[in-house]
Amino acid sequence: MIQQKSLDWIEAAPERSLTLPARYFYDPKVFEAERERIFYPAWHCVAHVSELAEPGRFVTFDILDQSVIVSNHDGELHAFYNACQHRGNRLVNERRGQAGPVFRCGYHSWCYDRSGGLRNAPRTERLPDFDKKLYGLKPVKIEVMGCFVFINMDPDAAPLASISAGAEAKMAQYLPDLANMKLISEVDVVVPSNWKVIMDNSIEGYHFGLSGPVHKELAALIDFKQYALEAHDKWWTYIGPPKDNVASAYGVPLEGATWQTDWFFNIGIWPNTTFYCFPFADICGTFLMIPLEPEKSLLRFGYYGPAQREMPAVTRSCIEWMNQKLGPEDIELNVTNQRGLKSFGYNQGRYLIDAERSNESEHLVHHFHRLVHQAVKPALLAAQ
Ligand code: FES
Ligand SMILES: [Fe+2]
Repeated sequence: MIQQKSLDWIEAAPERSLTLPARYFYDPKVFEAERERIFYPAWHCVAHVSELAEPGRFVTFDILDQSVIVSNHDGELHAFYNACQHRGNRLVNERRGQAGPVFRCGYHSWCYDRSGGLRNAPRTERLPDFDKKLYGLKPVKIEVMGCFVFINMDPDAAPLASISAGAEAKMAQYLPDLANMKLISEVDVVVPSNWKVIMDNSIEGYHFGLSGPVHKELAALIDFKQYALEAHDKWWTYIGPPKDNVASAYGVPLEGATWQTDWFFNIGIWPNTTFYCFPFADICGTFLMIPLEPEKSLLRFGYYGPAQREMPAVTRSCIEWMNQKLGPEDIELNVTNQRGLKSFGYNQGRYLIDAERSNESEHLVHHFHRLVHQAVKPALLAAQ
């Protein structure tokens, strides 16, 4: 008889550790534990501040079965659940937009102002004791870090600034124009992979020179020997300087171009947000791995560029290259990785982690797996 694979994982020293057992990447019980213990209480990046700069601008952010609205009310940002307080109808279905003076529920027309307060509720004057103040939209925590807006649904969540102390300074160091960015485009791709499969792929350089041809194009722009991957508990960076004497990138000459940084800079914020910059490109990218199902994720690629400068041809080409070449090459790996994980013939492998924590070492993958394991373990033990 074929035995069910085990969920047991020993948090051994990284160099000696076996990888996180395969079931963590497809078991609905693990996914449920992640939902409760990782995603509901997490800080989620929903927008750049420029997207919410004027009164009435709003974005919505969906995570699993929850949806949150963030809106600008008289210059101040407010976040609240996207659920009408009458009978629970979802209020807003667009990802972003400009609200009128109120958000109006399409069911019975209850209207909420941009701070979530109930302004009008037809025919409630017929009720003997109806108090509008009691039926405002339920608030959600909000914080800005590195000019990006984050929300958290857990009223007891520790401030993002304390969880990710040091991350904002690192972003400002490599992405100096963050305050002057605007959204260029946002691309959503549904990938039939667990969200961690996608994360694991993005936080190791081991596959750069060993997988597909587009990765080699990227490696050719970076002084890959100096590529460094550093863990800081709930955030991590993977950064490499540019190669000397690069004359063209993404198929376009560099001459005359400007850029955010010529470094390959990436910063990950627990659990699933990444900000990055490609060498010689005048953008800051966001890369979100939003879980949908145990084996399905939404990859959201956001591209932000300088508000006041023309976009250089190199940058335009970089965005296209990311959407059409590097992204698909990694997604192909995500898909084949997910398939193999379910094989009866696989459960755990070995991380390639060296003593120097070199550019090709998988120590960030191990670090990330430890964070996941520590978060879900109590729930999995309780369910046993
Ligand atoms: S459910 Fe929104 S007004 Fe009735
Ligand atoms: Fe990759």
